[in-house]
Amino acid sequence: MLDLFADTPPWQEPLAPGATILRRRALANADILMAGIRDVSAQSPFRQMVTPGGYTMSVAMTNCGSVGWATDIHGYVYARLDPQTGRNWPEMPAAFLALAQACAQEAGYEHFQPDACLINRYAPGAKLSLHQDKDEKTLQAPIVSVSLGLPAVFQFGGLKRNDPLQRVLLEHGDVVVWGGESRLFYHGIQPLKEGHHPTTDAFRYNLTFRHT
Ligand code: SIN
Ligand code: FE2
Repeated sequence: MLDLFADTPPWQEPLAPGATILRRRALANADILMAGIRDVSAQSPFRQMVTPGGYTMSVAMTNCGSVGWATDIHGYVYARLDPQTGRNWPEMPAAFLALAQACAQEAGYEHFQPDACLINRYAPGAKLSLHQDKDEKTLQAPIVSVSLGLPAVFQFGGLKRNDPLQRVLLEHGDVVVWGGESRLFYHGIQPLKEGHHPTTDAFRYNLTFRHT
């Protein structure tokens, strides 16, 4: 049963076919997730990557897991090595994996085995243009996306870039899971508004878990 509009977190909201928002689901895990982000970024620092079109992304990124996502002027890749350090991407912290698997299951996706976690850091003004997550070899597995810190407007469309967009505010601890029919739906993040958050200060962080 969907527990709509319950007054105690977490609660679920359907977003699209195959897509669910688990509101505040990661709230109780926020401190351990932030500690994980600090550990990971001490080994593989946040950096603003350059797209194949030559555009420097406003979002700063790093990864953990057995592979990580990166872009440069040559294209998008999942690779074992962080191109900046020349070393393996840091291991995915156990708490990250456990949360991602629990969220996938609660949204209806059993046996989720993410091997990559992309960590996005948004400063005020940073945005992520409308895109599809389609660099994974298998599209069977869902995407699990965890939001921490400052709120942001998430756009969620359809299979075509110009399909109508839903706009939902993602707040600290919210988790979005999309797969099945909506696995390739276009999505993005509108420019982050300035603010202060007790856990993340002037930033929003987002973790996206993928089975590549
Ligand atoms: C993404 O699409 O990879 C990230 C979305 C978000 O930051 O919420
Ligand atoms: Fe994405």
